[in-house]
Amino acid sequence: MASTAARRLLLPLLLVALIAAHRAAARFVVEKNSLRVTSPAVLRGVYECAIGNFGMPQYGGTMHGVVVYPKADAKACRPFADSGLSFKPRSGGLPVFLLVDRGDCYFTTKGWNAQNAGAAAVLVADDRVEPLITMDSPESSGTEHIENITIPSALVTKRFGEDLRKALQSGDMVNVLLDWRESLPHPDERVEYELWTNSNDECGAKCDMQMSFVRSFRGIAQALEKRGYTQFTPHYITWYCPEAFVLSKQCRSQCINHGRYCAPDPEQDFSTGYDGRDVVLQNLVQICVFRVANGTRRPWMWWDYVHDFAVRCPMKEKKYTRECANGVINSLGLDIEKINKCVGDPEADKENPVLKAEQDAQIGHGSRGDVTILPTLVVNNRQYRGKLEKTSVLKAVCSGFEETTEPDVCLREDIETNECLENNGGCWLDKATNVSACKDTFRGRVCECPIVNGVKFIGDGYNHCEASGLGRCQINNGGCWNETRNGKSVSACSNQEAKGCKCPAGFKGDGANSCEDVDECKEKLFCQCKDCACENTWGSYECSCGGGNSLYIREHDTCISKHSSSTPSWGFLWVVFLGLALAGAGAYAVYKYRLRSYMDSEIRAIMAQYMPLESQDMPSQQHHLVPVDRADV
Ligand SMILES: *[C@@H]1O[C@H](CO)[C@@H](O)[C@H](O)[C@H]1NC(C)=O
Ligand SMILES: *[C@@H]1O[C@H](CO)[C@@H](O)[C@H](O)[C@H]1NC(C)=O
Ligand SMILES: *[C@@H]1O[C@H](CO)[C@@H](O)[C@H](O)[C@H]1NC(C)=O
Ligand SMILES: *[C@@H]1O[C@H](CO)[C@@H](O)[C@H](O)[C@H]1NC(C)=O
Repeated sequence: MASTAARRLLLPLLLVALIAAHRAAARFVVEKNSLRVTSPAVLRGVYECAIGNFGMPQYGGTMHGVVVYPKADAKACRPFADSGLSFKPRSGGLPVFLLVDRGDCYFTTKGWNAQNAGAAAVLVADDRVEPLITMDSPESSGTEHIENITIPSALVTKRFGEDLRKALQSGDMVNVLLDWRESLPHPDERVEYELWTNSNDECGAKCDMQMSFVRSFRGIAQALEKRGYTQFTPHYITWYCPEAFVLSKQCRSQCINHGRYCAPDPEQDFSTGYDGRDVVLQNLVQICVFRVANGTRRPWMWWDYVHDFAVRCPMKEKKYTRECANGVINSLGLDIEKINKCVGDPEADKENPVLKAEQDAQIGHGSRGDVTILPTLVVNNRQYRGKLEKTSVLKAVCSGFEETTEPDVCLREDIETNECLENNGGCWLDKATNVSACKDTFRGRVCECPIVNGVKFIGDGYNHCEASGLGRCQINNGGCWNETRNGKSVSACSNQEAKGCKCPAGFKGDGANSCEDVDECKEKLFCQCKDCACENTWGSYECSCGGGNSLYIREHDTCISKHSSSTPSWGFLWVVFLGLALAGAGAYAVYKYRLRSYMDSEIRAIMAQYMPLESQDMPSQQHHLVPVDRADV
């Protein structure tokens, strides 16, 4: 019993030594966002505040509210219901940012009490003059509700807290805007992010949260990675054992490679369960899984491995072993030889290049501070602050893309608000075709002339956009006038022209809104010859020349005589031909008539020689002589 108690005491001391040794040259950067006071005038301005490492920050978004300072329990350490206070805004009222004082209880307790009383955000005023710190959730006890805190939190300086209180006491309404839009850099179309994590699954709420994050975020993470939107790298923190302790029992059970890489005991008890060295070793396997998978261009396999390992090899079931890990590696089809080679010999008294690289990466560089909190998400080299939860993390990742380059998943309704839905975001819109210049992006809308079906629109995006280039007339007729009448379609758009509208021949107008028929007759443009009859039509005119002998030649707007035509038309030839045909038929008829008359008279003369002619009735044999035409004459 006594020895266990002694060990329990020794462990935290040793841990402090481990961490302190590492932190000697640590640089801690507090992730800040801006809090803008919009009224009263004396306080107007932008103030820095540190985003708390719990609750749900709204990366990429903003939040308006009014500041309220509680009349009782200003430190928010007890539920506000106890003192009968509620901060729920009445309908139509602005959300309440509850200002509370630091001290007496965990930051998370303050956040939880504020949330339960209906506040939309909690501002904790520091109680000492110091640079801002990151409010974290406690490691162990009192963590039951950290999972359930959804409101964002921020620490403000002592000075600013006092100013806010003063303004409230003098009866001012204090309006604020919490702004996360620029919390993360967003330089390009790919987001690089890291998760500093741990394979230990027995550390209470924090470990459970980490596991449920991996479970819920895995699908999105893999989809983003496969499509090249992100480059994800997992990382693991290790500590080293101070020189003097390397050969101690504690360091041997917590470390590998002769005290070079250590992790705290999962149960905080050296005598039972798994040791820190088991955790370091599994962390190393997980890094190697990533490295080997990345080598075959399938870095997203890491998510599968970590997920499956947690499900199949939990500490609780005493399966947190290398054999179990190998089973997971095999079923995922990863190259176990390569992974073993990467892990190397944990007993060797030399550096492991993979873990050495992790220790180096832990030191902050650029805008990122040292990583000291587990788990930590780093997006575009800036530490994410807030709960490790799918929606919040996705918001953070989404806010790391340059505007308009974010993947579709960032633009879903549950992730962001589509500003184009209201009044088209104030951008240009063509009502006829519903072509819009409003492009919703994660950080807000942009007005940019679109490309529709390969046709590029050009313009300022706000008041004016116009289809340009080839095929522009296919889209809303290039914004030009067109009309169809009696099966005749007329358009003021021409694909031959790069831009603009022009009324076609026979019409006049601006071409964009209207073209009107030109009355060629009234305006005396054509068909003005003497005796000509002009008739206006839609888009054209008809002209006929007076007198039967003239033809209208459209190209020359003249009438010409049919006979003088040097190039007689086919119509004319037909007339000639018909005339000839008629003449021929007439001549034949005359000839026939003449012949019959002759024969008649001949026959009469002959017959008269034999009998007297009493009537015109002919004897039957005469029919042979005068066969055909008799009845007609
Ligand atoms: C936290 O939320 C979970 C699920 O949403 C719920 O089961 C649990 O009771 C909540 N805890 C508290 C303290 O409200
Ligand atoms: C993963 O692979 C890519 C190229 O395929 C490389 O650029 C990147 O550095 C690799 N990451 C790690 C951590 O090895
Ligand atoms: C125009 O497009 C928007 C979104 O694409 C849609 O919600 C709306 O119903 C459309 N309106 C018309 C008139 O087609
Ligand atoms: C105008 O032009 C568009 C596209 O070229 C076409 O779809 C539409 O039917 C035309 N309208 C009329 C009235 O001809």
